[in-house]
Amino acid sequence: MSVKAKIGPSILNADLANLGAESKKLLDNGADYLHLDVMDGNFVPNLTFGHPMVKSLRNKIKTAFFETHMMVQNPEQWISPMADAGVNLYTFHIEPVDDVYKVSRLVQEAGMQVGLAIKPGTKVADLEKYISIADVVLVMTVEPGFGGQSFMADMMPKVEWLRQNYPNLDIEVDGGVGPKTIECCAKSGANMIVSGTAVVGATDQRQVIKDMRDVVQSYLK
Ligand code: DX5
Ligand code: ZN
Repeated sequence: MSVKAKIGPSILNADLANLGAESKKLLDNGADYLHLDVMDGNFVPNLTFGHPMVKSLRNKIKTAFFETHMMVQNPEQWISPMADAGVNLYTFHIEPVDDVYKVSRLVQEAGMQVGLAIKPGTKVADLEKYISIADVVLVMTVEPGFGGQSFMADMMPKVEWLRQNYPNLDIEVDGGVGPKTIECCAKSGANMIVSGTAVVGATDQRQVIKDMRDVVQSYLK
């Protein structure tokens, strides 16, 4: 199998006034990428930050891989400013989008990788026709909108199905993932792991990141 275990901390529940330092600390402690949760108060009932903040972060952190998780009603609107802000992977929800092919093509033309996300209520079958254009598929394991929610184990059949049918696909899980739930995700075949509260709040971030990556990698072999 060619996919690798990667841990991408979500900085949603970090100290956002110290985003640069918090992000650097996570990367120094072994994070493989940063998962940046962008919310518009419309697609989800919460508001976070947009491209100006991502751009400021990129000015401080030149080389790390940035994913933006676009929990927004109109992802097409933010493609160009996010590309300009130095985003590597632009993950958007398929639910509010009429033409997923078109938005994906625009993301690629802007020089970013394409991530396609589904909420807990969205069937994996609704995503299937787009998999060939996706670099990453994100299966949400909480309702998007807030950090610190409980992991939904009943989302694992989606991950299992994807892994069985697409052995080389990057499959990401997001929401309530930490040392207690990592085994479940790993066993199901997820290889890109978003973890917010469990990593950011850990006394030993390095250990938590390493332990989770080891568990995931052990199931990929
Ligand atoms: C939820 C976000 C997640 C989440 C992760 O809408 O997309 O990235 O905040 O945080 P934890 O791991 O605390 O659920
Ligand atoms: Zn997220």
